[in-house]
Parts: sequence; C-alpha cells; structure tokens
Amino acid sequence: MDTALTYAETHADQFVDELKTLLRIPSVSTDSAYDDEVERAAAWLADHLDGIGMEHTEIIATDGHPLVYAEHITDPAKPTVVVYGHYDVQPPDPLEEWDTDPFEPAQHDGNLYARGACDDKGQMFMHVKAAEAYLSAEGDLPVNLKYIIEGEEESGSMAMGAYVQSNGSRLGGDVVLISDTAMFSPDTPSITYGLRGLAYAEITLRGPNRDLHSGNFGGAVDNPCNALSRILAGLHDDDHRITIPGFYDDVQDLTEAERKTYAELPFDEQSWRDALDINAVRTEGDYTTLECLSARPTLDVNGIWGGYTDEGAKTVLPSRAHAKLSMRLVPDQQVEDVYDKLEAHLEAAVPDTMQFSMRRLHGGDPVLVDRSAPPMQAAKTAMGEVRGTEPVFVRNGGTIPVVADFQQHLGLDSVLMGFGLDSDAIHSPNEHFGLDRFQQGIQAIIRFHNHYAEMEA
Ligand code: BES
Ligand code: MN
Ligand code: MN
Repeated sequence: MDTALTYAETHADQFVDELKTLLRIPSVSTDSAYDDEVERAAAWLADHLDGIGMEHTEIIATDGHPLVYAEHITDPAKPTVVVYGHYDVQPPDPLEEWDTDPFEPAQHDGNLYARGACDDKGQMFMHVKAAEAYLSAEGDLPVNLKYIIEGEEESGSMAMGAYVQSNGSRLGGDVVLISDTAMFSPDTPSITYGLRGLAYAEITLRGPNRDLHSGNFGGAVDNPCNALSRILAGLHDDDHRITIPGFYDDVQDLTEAERKTYAELPFDEQSWRDALDINAVRTEGDYTTLECLSARPTLDVNGIWGGYTDEGAKTVLPSRAHAKLSMRLVPDQQVEDVYDKLEAHLEAAVPDTMQFSMRRLHGGDPVLVDRSAPPMQAAKTAMGEVRGTEPVFVRNGGTIPVVADFQQHLGLDSVLMGFGLDSDAIHSPNEHFGLDRFQQGIQAIIRFHNHYAEMEA
C-alpha cells in the first residue's frame, strides 16, 4: 500500500492534467444535442482504463447512453469491490453566471472549476487513479475490482438500472464503493449510510381548447392556472406535512439513536441560513432542520408555467397550466407506489371543468445501509487517516438511483465515501472541487482497498 500512496503523491500533477482532459468533454446526458460528447467521454474513459492496466474494458451500448466497464481480477479468494460512478454531467446553464468556461477547467485558489469537477468526474476519477497507483507501483491490488461507470445518472439512470437487473452475475461482488456524495462539513468528514429516493412528475391541467380573452370569458370559464395554484397550495398543511393520503404510510421513523446522532452533529443553523440569505426555515412538525434535510420525505414544485409570462401584461385566460414536482423519498417508500398516490390525489382534486394528465419522468428508491458492516468500517478508518478526523455516519438528502438497484437486485450494499462539500456548487454555476480533496480521495481509496482486504482475510 505504501508505494501506491507514494506513487499517487508524486503523480498528483499528472492526475490533475488528465482529469482536466475529461472535464473538457461536455458530456451533458439530459440534452440530446450533446449525445456525441457523451459518447466521446465514454470512449476516453474506456481508453484510459485500458491504459492503466485494467482488463476486459468494454463500452456497453444501452437504450440510453453507454456504460463503461473494466475489471482487474487476480484472485477469487480476495474480496471483490464494485466501483460505481458517472461520467455524465448536468447542463452548465445559466452560462452567464460562470466566472470561467464550464468546459475549460480553471485552476485557482487550490480548486479546479468546471462542470463535473466534483459531480462526478472528479470523484469518479479518484478511483481510476487509485487503481493506477496500485497497478503501476505494486503490480497488483489487494482486492478484485470491477468498475461500472454510467453516462446518464443525471437524467435518471434508466439504462444502468436495467443493466443491474439483468446482468447480476457480471456485477457480482462483495460491496459497491462510490464517491458521489458530500462530507458533512470541511471539519467533519462523513460516510453516508442513507440516501433519499426520488419520484419526479410533470402535471398538466387543460381547460378551454385555446387561450381566451380574460374579459370576454373570465368569470365563467375556469382557469387552469388558478386551479393548479389551488391544488399545489393544498399539498402541504400548516405543519408542512404532505397531504397526499397514505404518503407517510411506509415512512420509517427516525430511531431515538439516530435522532440523538443528528442532534450531536456540529450544525450551526444560523450561519447555514446566512449563507442562503434566508431568515427562517420551514420544517415538518417537530423535526429538526437536519432531519428534514435528509431523513424526512419532501414534495417540491420545481417549476410552474402557463399563460403569459413575457414582458408586460397580456389579458389572457390560459388554456393550460403545468408544473414539475419532485418528491424525495425515505425508506420504505417506493417510487411507483408514491406516484400512484400522488396521481390519485391530484385526479380527485382537479375540478370537473378541466382535464388532468401526469407523466412520471424518473425516479429512484431510497436506501439505508448497515453501518456496522466491515467495508463501512474500512472506509471510516481510511477516510479518518487522510482527513485526520474520524468520520461520522450521516444520511444525505440527494439521490443516486442505482444504489437501491444494487441492494434490491444484487443484495449489494454501497459504501458512500464522498469527498464533496455542499459549497462545491454541484449542479450550479462555478462548480469546483478542491485539489486537496481530490488527492485525499485517491489516498483514502488506496487505503480502503488495503484495510478491507485485511478485514476479510
Ligand atoms: N451526486 C448526486 C447525488 C448527491 C449529491 C447525493 C450530494 C448526496 C449528496 C447525483 O449526481 C444527483 O445529482 N442525483 C440527482 C438524482 C437524479 C435522478 C437526477 C438528485 O439527487 O437530484
Ligand atoms: Mn453525482
Ligand atoms: Mn448530480
């Protein structure tokens, strides 16, 4: 292990240069205008994995964007670590809010600025470089490795989910290792043991067959924008609980032990609010802010439109109104069941003056993993050694859809050892990743493989 750690240190600049090459490829998965770039990123990555000595490298075509697979298997007696990550990125807009080009990485103040620098190219690439360090410096690895890197996590992981379901034997192993989450804070490194799920829907209300003059028709023709606002406003009660019947039926409540752990986390709510320019929070019932951010389900309107929204006034009674809704789910809620409940509730709430339709855009089930399992403890040790502080176990509010698929279809738990920070601006303008954390991540991954192999020996 020590020579691999030294190799990673002495090759740090080379690693950053290579990451920059990957960051220059605008692999935006959600927008088909970038399809060729997504393919180019997959090809670059496969080529790179081949170059560092991984075997059976393959670009796997799917109904969506390709998956990249590579493995290094030397000894069936060693544990097998499945490494997951994603090479696709979020769209860069709003472009005018970036200080530098999102696809021309800029290095300053110890950070690398680019779309995907943290989520997830930078973090995924730490795993590639950790393998390179072992293979170049030691000629072998303490574990068997299987890498499966997808190209559409940011648009729902449909192909990846299907692949996990139907190619279980190929992805068989002992644990999944992922770096695609954030630490609790710069002073408090963390391993994530829970992720929220997601159910994302688009809804439309249709009233009259065309936009109408609001003077000639207003007063008797019902207005879809009015109706949609009323319906959306009714989705929460005064305690900020979601009013969809049965919505909370399958929600596992926090255990007393978890609530105690949450309460002990070093969270300065005032400065957290100050950083967001909000003077108060709106939480559910008696749950604390931290609990509501990761262990309670949510319903948020992500966008709402209809009628006239350009400059000036136009007297119009709109024909249609639309909204996009995201629901973050917690164990044991399930995506399809929650969609069904939402749809039934909305159908009942829509007035008989109009038509309703709903599209299910994408989702992922929530997960919790066992904190006491050996790989979780190996990650805790490895991360603690490089950060100099013992990590805490936390739940995160975001979603990585395939983590539930690994658990449900392959019986594999994931170790979420992420090196992001909430301040890295993922999905936002000026996304960045600290180069210190890039290097620490590589060191921690090298250590993880070694500690985990020793625990299982
Ligand atoms: N890496 C994030 C998820 C994440 C970020 C989890 C920070 C925990 C902390 C991932 O790339 C992501 O953005 N997921 C999407 C879901 C997807 C289906 C679009 C999300 O959570 O919105
Ligand atoms: Mn991600
Ligand atoms: Mn993301």
